[in-house]
Amino acid sequence: MKIVVIGSGGREHSIIWKLSSDKRIKEIISFSDNYGINQLSKHLEIFNDDIDSLTSEILKINPDLVIVGPEDPLSKGITNNLLENNIRTFGPTKEAARIESSKIFSKNLMMDNNIPTSYAEFFTDFDKAKNYSLSKEFKNIVIKADGLAAGKGVFLPDSNEEMIDILNDLLNKNKLGNSGKSILIEDRIFGKEVSVFCFTDGFNYSKPIAICDYKRVFENDLGGNTGGMGCYTPPEFWSDELEISILNKIIEPTINAMRKNDSPFKGMLYTGLMITSDGPKVIEYNCRFGDPESELIMPMFEGEILDTFLDVANSNLKNNSVRWKNKKGLCVVMCSEGYPEKYKSGYEINGLDEIDKKIICFHSGTVISNNKVVSNGGRVLVLSNIDDSINECRNNIYSEIQKISFENSFYRKDIGLRAIENE
Ligand code: GLY
Repeated sequence: MKIVVIGSGGREHSIIWKLSSDKRIKEIISFSDNYGINQLSKHLEIFNDDIDSLTSEILKINPDLVIVGPEDPLSKGITNNLLENNIRTFGPTKEAARIESSKIFSKNLMMDNNIPTSYAEFFTDFDKAKNYSLSKEFKNIVIKADGLAAGKGVFLPDSNEEMIDILNDLLNKNKLGNSGKSILIEDRIFGKEVSVFCFTDGFNYSKPIAICDYKRVFENDLGGNTGGMGCYTPPEFWSDELEISILNKIIEPTINAMRKNDSPFKGMLYTGLMITSDGPKVIEYNCRFGDPESELIMPMFEGEILDTFLDVANSNLKNNSVRWKNKKGLCVVMCSEGYPEKYKSGYEINGLDEIDKKIICFHSGTVISNNKVVSNGGRVLVLSNIDDSINECRNNIYSEIQKISFENSFYRKDIGLRAIENE
């Protein structure tokens, strides 16, 4: 079999890593210069990565399956293009990807189908948004841009002044372009955050895996929001009862509502939840694997994941066909100083060959330059480990991560700490 994987980060490295042990796969093809990805796949250079150019490159390859990693090509319709050309594809159509690419679409979906979420109103006009938000007060609201914003579209203001500035930036100054021209002002909810991942073929869905991630850049949840600095599974508060309630009240109604909406969702449904005192509520949906969550999902997946990719793409996902290892998992992201704002690239990375084999080192942003592995992004490496306890995973990763070095690197040292207190 010939498989194409679209995307170039740690998420895609982890997908290719998992596929690469499957003997049925003769060739994995990527379009990325990520060194980790290139070690396990054939790299095809492309000069344009707009979806039409990508589609024509893929048609030349004529693969048995395409797996789409990032939300951007999904929301632009890469799956639609490929399916129209009879290329089997894992990942939702652009209509189904609206579950992530339009927060107004997904909020309406939830409100129309009684899927638990917090109340929100939608605005395009600054004065109306200002009056509404002042009537609510900064501490009770969250401001969200409607469209994709690479993790920069959600705001929790710390004062009424900041709240008005955010509205002004989005609605008057166009800070996020079209993505922020329409906004939601949502009631703020409190509780424990968790991300729940289910494969679905639009009808059936898999057993979920629940993961807690760390979005803030610094320890103790200080600093700006990032794509994720590390995560662990399972959450310390997870239970069979909670899982059943999330599946019945949220996951199944979401999949049914998307089908009713003529946009059946096929792929990986990633639901961000807040477990409140009133039960679980949806914060947002994503239409893809998370990053770095994928760097735990792949090692935690029991057996060959190719079968699940094919079952989803062929609309043939069987109940109970996905099994997760009865283990704990944790990963830590190594970044370049300045991330998530301005950072430099091109730092030589040392020590990659010295870390213990039980640690999987996924590459988020690396490239070969002058025969050396160098950093090529804000998030550079993700170290993942699966073991019998979160404590062991933490010890394994934090003892080995010190063997890797590049100039101005940093990582959070508190990943999973809160989960080990009751182990
Ligand atoms: N780690 C968060 C995300 O992938 O959106």
